[in-house]
Amino acid sequence: MARISASVYTSHVPAIGAALDLGKSHEPYWQKVFQGYEFSKEWLRRSTPDVIFLVYNDHANAFSLEMIPTFAIGCAAEFMPADEGWGPRPVPKVVGHPELAAHIAHSVIQDDFDLTIVNKMDVDHGLTVPLSLMCGQPSADKFAWPCPVIPFAVNVVQYPVPSGRRCYNLGKAIRKAVESYDEPLNVQIWGTGGMSHQLQGPRAGLINKVFDNNFLDRLIADPAGLASMPHIDYVREAGSEGIELVMWLIARGAMDDEFGKRTLKVAHRFYHVPASNTAVGHLILENPS
Ligand code: DHB
Ligand code: FE
Repeated sequence: MARISASVYTSHVPAIGAALDLGKSHEPYWQKVFQGYEFSKEWLRRSTPDVIFLVYNDHANAFSLEMIPTFAIGCAAEFMPADEGWGPRPVPKVVGHPELAAHIAHSVIQDDFDLTIVNKMDVDHGLTVPLSLMCGQPSADKFAWPCPVIPFAVNVVQYPVPSGRRCYNLGKAIRKAVESYDEPLNVQIWGTGGMSHQLQGPRAGLINKVFDNNFLDRLIADPAGLASMPHIDYVREAGSEGIELVMWLIARGAMDDEFGKRTLKVAHRFYHVPASNTAVGHLILENPS
């Protein structure tokens, strides 16, 4: 059977992609961000999975107000980087895993979660920036991400957005789906977005370091309790775009430590302010083998 070996959590700021693509990553401002991912790049090189299940949100690039799926699973063979207004990022196309994606869709829908099946979709910074942070810039002679990626888009842009509890329970259903796949694949699940930030209105620029660090503590040690936090607390404490953090609960729900049966390993933890308008948070949690 396939299994989920680890989960990765990271913010996905577009300016990080621009800093990498425009060769600014050695500037002191960006060095403070990228140094938090040095361990992670080495960790991913050592433990490259067969597939990454990447939970992210689209920012009105693949979808728009015309169509707003709450949960959308990418079942295509490949996904192109989206043009977000400045041309597509010069990063590799994302190669999917249609067989595993279709299996997960089948299992999770049978488990009463309504997924939208997407067979054609461009992927924006929500997905490509975490890949860049974790993999670095792919070299010209090997212009490819290290493994197939299943994009899983969550609506956290237009209300109503899914609750933390629903996201956490969906993660459990995803784990069950992966573990019923009849091939010994090593799968990682990544939860992206956040941490505290607000890009609009009178509170634009809001950052809340106390909230963010408490969120990281509870994501590790009390995910079920954290999953009951209502939306209004995210918005009040972490800003209007802080709601992206519910996506981290999907990845956390897919980890294998329920009821204290097992202990997760915290392989890496990083927090830094600022990156553009955002607090950058990052965690790597490993399932015991
Ligand atoms: C910004 C955009 C995002 O989607 C995000 O999650 C964080 C920051 C930005 O434009 O700065
Ligand atoms: Fe975002």
